[in-house]
Amino acid sequence: MQPIKILFVCLGNICRSPIAHAILEHKIKSNGLIHFFEINSSGTSGFHTGSTPDKRSLAVLLKHGIQFKHYAQQLTPADISYYDYIIATDHLNYDEIINMASHSLPNKANSVFLLRSFDLNEKTNFDIPDPYYGLESDFEEVYQICERSINGFLNFLRMQTNQLHLGTQP
Ligand code: 4NP
Repeated sequence: MQPIKILFVCLGNICRSPIAHAILEHKIKSNGLIHFFEINSSGTSGFHTGSTPDKRSLAVLLKHGIQFKHYAQQLTPADISYYDYIIATDHLNYDEIINMASHSLPNKANSVFLLRSFDLNEKTNFDIPDPYYGLESDFEEVYQICERSINGFLNFLRMQTNQLHLGTQP
């Protein structure tokens, strides 16, 4: 069976998308399902290419028991072709991805999602706020939004992949 390939995308790939990447990877590893998945993250900008995640992202992950290693990378058209699910953290980045896809891979638009559209606590605002110029508490808020959204995304995947047993709990 081919792994399910998932890419999270924000602007810098040092705050929001690494947090989402780390949470999903942690859940999948905890369930012993890592071989069924390939999970990655990137940024629509190259501002921080090669950097480790923001210290505040690593701190909030560690606070929730997750150790994470990643080097920021910039989204490419090849990524859009490669990944099955390309999941943006806000509308601006969503639009960038759709724009990149429209030049060469218009059929991939169906594979592009807003992460927060899977947040069961949110019905109208599907943007995950950018915490870069914010406080530690903003990183905690991003963590909580990502955690809820990833639980919702896993439920969505369970419905899509009926041959894969992802368990009953996120
Ligand atoms: P991210 O946050 O897109 O969640 O990684 C940001 C990181 C860096 C910048 C903006 C947002 N920046 O302007 O450098």
